[in-house]
Amino acid sequence: MQKLPVTHYPQRRTQLIQQLPAGSAVILSAATLRYRNRDAEYPFRQDSDFHYLSGFPEADGVLLLLAGENPRSVLFCLPRDPEKEIWNGYRYGPKGAVSEFLLDDAYDLDQLNAKMVELLAGCQRIYYPLRDLDLGKRIDDWRQRIKGKARSSIPVPDMLQDLDPLLHEMRLFKCPQEQAMMRSAGELSAAGHIAAMQSCKPGLMEYQLEATILHCFAQQGARWPAYNTIVGGGANGCILHYTENRDALADGDLVLIDAGAEVDGYAGDITRTFPVNGQFGQDQRLLYQLVLDAQLAAIEAIKPGANWNDPHLQAVRVLTEGLLELGLLSGELQQLIDDEAYRTFYMHRTGHWLGLDVHDVGEYKQQDDWRPLLPGMVLTVEPGLYIAPDCQEVDERWRGIGIRIEDDVLVTEQGCEILTAAVPKAIDEIEALMASAKEQE
Ligand code: GLY
Ligand code: MN
Ligand code: MN
Repeated sequence: MQKLPVTHYPQRRTQLIQQLPAGSAVILSAATLRYRNRDAEYPFRQDSDFHYLSGFPEADGVLLLLAGENPRSVLFCLPRDPEKEIWNGYRYGPKGAVSEFLLDDAYDLDQLNAKMVELLAGCQRIYYPLRDLDLGKRIDDWRQRIKGKARSSIPVPDMLQDLDPLLHEMRLFKCPQEQAMMRSAGELSAAGHIAAMQSCKPGLMEYQLEATILHCFAQQGARWPAYNTIVGGGANGCILHYTENRDALADGDLVLIDAGAEVDGYAGDITRTFPVNGQFGQDQRLLYQLVLDAQLAAIEAIKPGANWNDPHLQAVRVLTEGLLELGLLSGELQQLIDDEAYRTFYMHRTGHWLGLDVHDVGEYKQQDDWRPLLPGMVLTVEPGLYIAPDCQEVDERWRGIGIRIEDDVLVTEQGCEILTAAVPKAIDEIEALMASAKEQE
């Protein structure tokens, strides 16, 4: 399994605290285990911010960074415990955390309160994610203890500031090694979609196609998908977050698959829509080609100097033109765009930032303007059309067709690189791939 070199973590910590005034501290909590039923846990996934700054894979830790002349990184983590490790697996413990994750110090979580009070005394500001209310309560408690102890002779960290804007701006720009991870996530995700196209046939259950994809991810070394896989046959493709994946795939329907592999925390995020039986029907073909044209126009708009909203505007224009031409909308083109008439059939935006979170962090606007695209940003491009099965406004022939086409795109100096290009999306390419898989059966 690919991993970023561990040296990235101290580099990122340094890059962050160099932006802070002396006397600042940064505090972040690790994720905690969640339970699926009684004492059976959901698979553990580290908090993305915590992972970004520490690489430390265990639950319940707390990371403290101190800025200033003597910058320090300190981790509080679960102690080694032979008894617990027999049941729940290896723990690094403080010593292992320091040596493996290049921290300055680490302590048992048992010492959290006492040590925090000691280390924060003398700091003026604390940066932490203000949305983390549990951490906020802990920080209040530590500040009260410092106040009580010092009897006002030591400064109490009185300024509480949001860490998110600073840290998330860093996360938005992917360095070359992160780009390599995301390229891998894109390639692995693409292979999963190809496997699904090759194995699809009428009568298969949606969850069986999901299993084919997850199997393919795991065989290539990606233990987890980046999010819950969507496999929606026919009208299920019109439900944007359909993850039940419980129906049989019907001859003559399309199937929409939104699935991505995770590589060292970095997400792939691909959607493809293809015919269950390998051949697009006439109406499906018309709508599919329209979504594809919109997607290609949106990708064409991605280059440094363009702004975040340009790909969306391109997609919306192409979709509205096509819907007019096919008779699903009627009126005047510009008026329909201004009125967002397409929203009946296209109700989401054309993409989002992509990284450690599938819907990754980073602002989309600066002041009130859409921000410019710059090299190192990664975004998805995912226009779609969803004609609800009960949509009375359109001819019956269009109803129950859901189509989305999604790729992951890195902004480069020259323009952009499609990280997920390996999975076909042109109609003839999809049909050829599915036909050749059938021949080999
Ligand atoms: N898979 C989530 C999304 O496409 O936004
Ligand atoms: Mn997406
Ligand atoms: Mn997706």
